[in-house]
Amino acid sequence: MGAKDNMSGTRMNAETRFYGVIGDPVKHSKSPVMLNAAFAAVGINAVYGAFHIKSTELRQAVNGFRALGFGGINVTIPHKLAIMEYIDEIDEGAKVIGAVNTVVHEDGKLIGYNTDGIGYVRALKEENRVSLAGSRILVIGAGGAARGVVYALAQEKPKQIWIANRTAAKAEQLADSLNEFASVTGMALQEIKEVIGDADVVINTTAVGMHPYIEEMPFQPDLLKGNTLVSDLIYNPLTTKLLAEAKQKGCRIHGGLGMFVYQGAYAFEYWTGRQAPVDIMRQTVLNSF
Ligand code: ATR
Repeated sequence: MGAKDNMSGTRMNAETRFYGVIGDPVKHSKSPVMLNAAFAAVGINAVYGAFHIKSTELRQAVNGFRALGFGGINVTIPHKLAIMEYIDEIDEGAKVIGAVNTVVHEDGKLIGYNTDGIGYVRALKEENRVSLAGSRILVIGAGGAARGVVYALAQEKPKQIWIANRTAAKAEQLADSLNEFASVTGMALQEIKEVIGDADVVINTTAVGMHPYIEEMPFQPDLLKGNTLVSDLIYNPLTTKLLAEAKQKGCRIHGGLGMFVYQGAYAFEYWTGRQAPVDIMRQTVLNSF
């Protein structure tokens, strides 16, 4: 190990494969530390950088990655939609979700995937050792994050998914658009008292409770019944107020860090064909806080 080693501990040479995340802003992204640790742990000769790309430069950036032979890129806000125009193929799930967060450069083609929703669901199942088949799930929120999560949940053969949103019409629209994959019903946030007692899992997909507004909650937790699994997509803070209160009520709780880790794990697996070292990835992100 000498001065020429990069941060992942890999010595770069003429065969090093390049990866990265594009976004605007991007400098707070934890993806570079997480993915470089993953490449190093598995012994893959690759490096992962962060690229601050303005929307007006997106087309040139994508063509640049293509020309330079990058192995793949992750895509974050605000490019998840716009990038779809500049790549060659889009996976079926990403098409339904309407957003791409992972691009794989394979045989000269750029192929877009969405690993956010499936990453979340894998985290939910693996971190809580639960099966979602036959379960009843209440999802709070009907924005972009909810769309990916509900699409992935719908693949798990749940008995019922309810989507509750402040703006009821958005919940109903989202439910209608995903009804072909599972039984999905939309409703207003005020109506959750009718169903929350029957839910095995309750998931907050809104940003309500995220730093710096850590005292806020998307709904009143006194509605929760003791044996429910309550999950929050937020990972800053790691335990939101909603989760802390749910725990007090005797619920099992699940924070959002795993979603970030597993969306990256899927990207790693699509790029390398190797199993992602998830424990190392999670620990690396935790250490970086
Ligand atoms: P994201 O991509 O993070 O999902 P989004 O697409 O803007 O972001 O969606 C935000 C979601 O959080 C929406 O479901 C929004 O509800 P509305 O559709 O009624 O706007 C929800 N949300 C945001 N602030 C909220 C609040 N204070 N209370 C309840 N829901 C809120």
